Amino acid sequence: MQLVLDLHNLLRWAILLFGVWTVINGLTGVLSKRIFTPKDSRINLLFMIGCDLQLLLGLILYFSNGWWDKMKGGMGEVMKNSYDRFFTVEHSLMMIIAWVLVHIGRSAVNRAGTDAAKHKKMLLFAGLALLIILAAIPWPFRTEIARPWFRGF
Ligand code: HEM
Repeated sequence: MQLVLDLHNLLRWAILLFGVWTVINGLTGVLSKRIFTPKDSRINLLFMIGCDLQLLLGLILYFSNGWWDKMKGGMGEVMKNSYDRFFTVEHSLMMIIAWVLVHIGRSAVNRAGTDAAKHKKMLLFAGLALLIILAAIPWPFRTEIARPWFRGF
């Protein structure tokens, strides 16, 4: 499980990189009214693939690292403890919402009729997903739930 945790920690940086890149592309696309290029689509796709892999690693951790067992032990106990509540409920739920937004956003971009609409949809959905991801990461400065910037290197 240590390797999965190391990878889950590390992949966060790739997701943030591609997420920020997608949002910047959307923003500059909207502001400069430029055409929507295959490169714009590719960066957005990499953001989505990163989130897909992270969901998989997250689910492995959730079910194999004791978090699901805590839930089975009773929701009341989990909710009373802010550390357990964060990882079993808040982190997982918020990240799944972000993952859904990234997927809806990608199909909305594909279905949009004009380049301007594509940039707008990409900015909206990736921007919202990125904000949720940033809020749900157990950053080292979040004292009660703090986790390290990097692991195992
Ligand atoms: C963009 C999506 C996600 C990001 C950026 C992210 C990021 C992180 C980070 C940075 C940690 C701390 C790792 C460490 O201790 O070094 C963590 C822990 C954890 N994440 Fe995620 N996560 C995401 C999605 C998910 C999802 C979808 C789930 C579950 C469905 C999940 C479940 C967990 C669990 C259970 C832990 C605690 C692992 C343990 O200590 O056993 N994560 N996540």
